[in-house]
Amino acid sequence: MHYFDYKGGAKKRLYAEGVSVKRIAKEVGTPVFIYSHKTLTRHFNAFDTAFADAPHLICFSVKANSNLAVLKTFSTLGGGFDIVSGGELFRVVKAGGDMKKVVFSGVGKTEEEIEFAIKKRILMFNVESPQELRLINKVAKRLKKRAGIAIRINPDVDPKTHPYISTGLKKNKFGIERKEALREYAYARKNLANLDLLGVDCHIGSQLTSIKPFIDALKKVKTFVGDLRAQGIDPGYINMGGGLGITYEDETAPHPSKYGEAVIKETKDLGVTLIFEPGRNIVGNAGILATRVTYTKKGSVKNFIIADAGMNDLPRPSLYGSYHGIEPVVKERRGTVTADIVGPICETGDFIARDRKIKKVNPGELLAVMSAGAYCYTMSSNYNSRPRAAEVMVKGKDYYVVKKREKPADLIEGEVMPNALFKKSKKR
Ligand code: LLP
Repeated sequence: MHYFDYKGGAKKRLYAEGVSVKRIAKEVGTPVFIYSHKTLTRHFNAFDTAFADAPHLICFSVKANSNLAVLKTFSTLGGGFDIVSGGELFRVVKAGGDMKKVVFSGVGKTEEEIEFAIKKRILMFNVESPQELRLINKVAKRLKKRAGIAIRINPDVDPKTHPYISTGLKKNKFGIERKEALREYAYARKNLANLDLLGVDCHIGSQLTSIKPFIDALKKVKTFVGDLRAQGIDPGYINMGGGLGITYEDETAPHPSKYGEAVIKETKDLGVTLIFEPGRNIVGNAGILATRVTYTKKGSVKNFIIADAGMNDLPRPSLYGSYHGIEPVVKERRGTVTADIVGPICETGDFIARDRKIKKVNPGELLAVMSAGAYCYTMSSNYNSRPRAAEVMVKGKDYYVVKKREKPADLIEGEVMPNALFKKSKKR
């Protein structure tokens, strides 16, 4: 449930909590991402409460939305963070996150990133290869410190989601297959003295709309933990990763409480602390993108609504063919039209929706792209030299700009035209 609702009589207006989207668009400009603080809080608490009966840690997956104000909202609620780069760790530090609640995932952590994380004393690394395991130990040894680790095992479970965001199959680049992982734990215990073998990790994919694949994976993790214990290695944490889906269109995503029940049932006698890395489930429906219609155009086979937000602002439809609801910000009694809602980018792949039936709109009017809180701003780019959109957080009757709209000058930050390149070369 989210707090983006229509209010008013015949001309209904979309509100983010107590603030009209039209007002934000007028004052901040468009395109603009709008997040609801109350929704973020509600979703975080729903996830947290689902596991109230078990020792657990909710590590918000920063890649879904890395705005500092969003991160601070979760750290204030007692959340930790799942990071995948030194840049994300830098953000968590800036947002005042508790380092003892940070886990570091990703297949390609560099030595610099590992050093940064060890110095910051994060809780643990989710290790994705034998080479990485050895490198973490080497860096920890050089720094005369210890590093907590969990090996990400590849459970070979099909999450039945989009192939680009499915991660737990043998053919995917993620994790280590179980047999090899078992050998790696044994090797680490014997030879990698600066590592603390804290847990076992797995993440099978994103936007899962069924609980079954999670439980299938968890059963394999349980067996794996049993095998480790038989060797005298006793991991205190099981990390289930992220992946619980949301409703974009008509998917029925399970409520976190159902996920909680199923997981707790499987793990209650295991004596471990559970870690979760939810991203989308918490922020996805807590944000929208408001965009203004620039033109409408009628072709002989298609209608086009050209908005001021494009694939650089919201790449999910172009990249995965994803669906986002699109609603007029001011609802009037009007006929409908079937149209492609496109951006200004010079690519046919630049669309927010295709063949979408929506209420007729005119140039200058506003549209709200729904479910835009996860993997939208974080995946946005400056393609076509478009400054990135602004981000706003609403709380009750107030709103705050939490990221200024980029200016043209931001686009060329760091670029140089060294004179030497343009000196005429002397003729020989
Ligand atoms: N943990 C790990 C190790 C992950 O790789 C991911 C997401 C998460 C947690 C968080 O998953 P979530 O709870 O948000 O499903 N850009 C794509 C999604 C990519 C997901 C990558 N990994 C999209 O827009 O759908």
